[in-house]
Order: sequence, then C-alpha cells, then structure tokens
Amino acid sequence: MSEERSARELLEIIAERVRHCTRCDLWRTRTQAVPGEGDPHAEVMFIGEAPGYHEDRQGRPFVGAAGQFLNELLGRAGLRREQVYITNVVKCRPPGNRDPLPDEIAACAPYLDEQIAVIRPRVIVTLGRYSMARWFPNEKISRIHGKPRRFGDVVVVPMYHPAAALHQPALKELVEKDFDALREIIAQARAEAARAADAQQDEEKAQQMRLF
Ligand code: URA
Ligand code: SF4
Repeated sequence: MSEERSARELLEIIAERVRHCTRCDLWRTRTQAVPGEGDPHAEVMFIGEAPGYHEDRQGRPFVGAAGQFLNELLGRAGLRREQVYITNVVKCRPPGNRDPLPDEIAACAPYLDEQIAVIRPRVIVTLGRYSMARWFPNEKISRIHGKPRRFGDVVVVPMYHPAAALHQPALKELVEKDFDALREIIAQARAEAARAADAQQDEEKAQQMRLF
C-alpha cells in the first residue's frame, strides 16, 4: 500500500467519524458535518472557524461568500485550492452562525489534531481568532496578522478571517497583502524543510561511514 493511499484513507476514517459525531450538541442542529477537504499531503493547511449556512448544506468547507474570497486569496499566495487542505476548528455549524462555544471547540479539537498529524503540513494558516487561539492564545490579530511563527516542524501564520475582511475595505486590503506575502513564507518553509532533510541525510551517511 502506497503512503499516498494511507494518508487519504486515514483522513477518510476521520471524516467518517466526524459525520457521525455526537460529542457536542452541534450535531443536533447540523444538516451535515463538514470534516474538511483537500490534498492529503498538502504543504499548506487552512483552518477556519466553523461551517456556515452553505457549508452545512453542502458538507464542504468555505463554499459560501467567504469561500469565494478565500479562493481569490489562495491565488494571491500562488496556491490552487486542490493543492491545499481546508478545514475548521469546529466541524458542525453553530445555529444562526453564532460563535462556537469553548466546550464545542474542546470537544471537536481531537479531529483537528488528528488531521494535522496525518497531513503534517509545513505551513498552517489560521483564519480568524478561534484557530489563531490554538497557537497564539493571548495575542491580538491586529498585532500579529501575517507574521509567521515556527512551532517545531510547522510554521503557523495567523490571518484575518476572509468573512470579516470581505465587508471592510481596510481589512480587505490588509488580508490581501498578507496573502501576497504568504507566497514567500511558504517558499522559505519549503527551503528550510529541504535543508533539514539534507542535513539528516548527511548525518545518516556519516553514521554509516563510522560503521566501517
Ligand atoms: N467560515 C469559516 O470559518 N469556515 C467555513 O467553512 C466557512 C466560513
Ligand atoms: Fe462532533 Fe465537532 Fe460536530 Fe461537535 S462540532 S458534533 S464535536 S464533529
């Protein structure tokens, strides 16, 4: 079995559990859960807040107005939607699009943890404050938006939520600039990963040499 297939299969197993999940009360009001979608080996993962009306109907993340704008922003960063992975902190729509509650976020967190563990992205882009809070619990988006920070093997970039930016021209311009700059952040993360892989290979070779 190829590695490609196994990451895909693992994500599908997670998705199937999400579709039947009753760990928090949001299952009672959802039309369907929205596990996430994209390339199982995506270099870049995008994490939003929660499904809205259209996402709940279609079972897919970011397909409404915010999703249209996100697609545009991806283009600015030099990314196609099929090449990234997109999901949310909370996988079921909160009624009336209210903010997700702390216990809902906590109940749903293991699914996101597992998705990150399977995909092992080089770059995680948080969209809005709920996904930002996972890595930057005490920060303000107005201070840190667009600025990458490394956490072990992954670089996390906090971004304004596209839905918030959509109707505020000043914010829209900021988020567009941040996505323009994301292209270079991804290139750097890729280069660092390549250097780390080279260094590891060198180390393995050196170890083999010492055996003789
Ligand atoms: N907003 C989000 O945070 N996620 C979606 O999937 C759609 C809109
Ligand atoms: Fe389960 Fe998450 Fe949906 Fe709550 S939001 S029912 S924890 S999948």
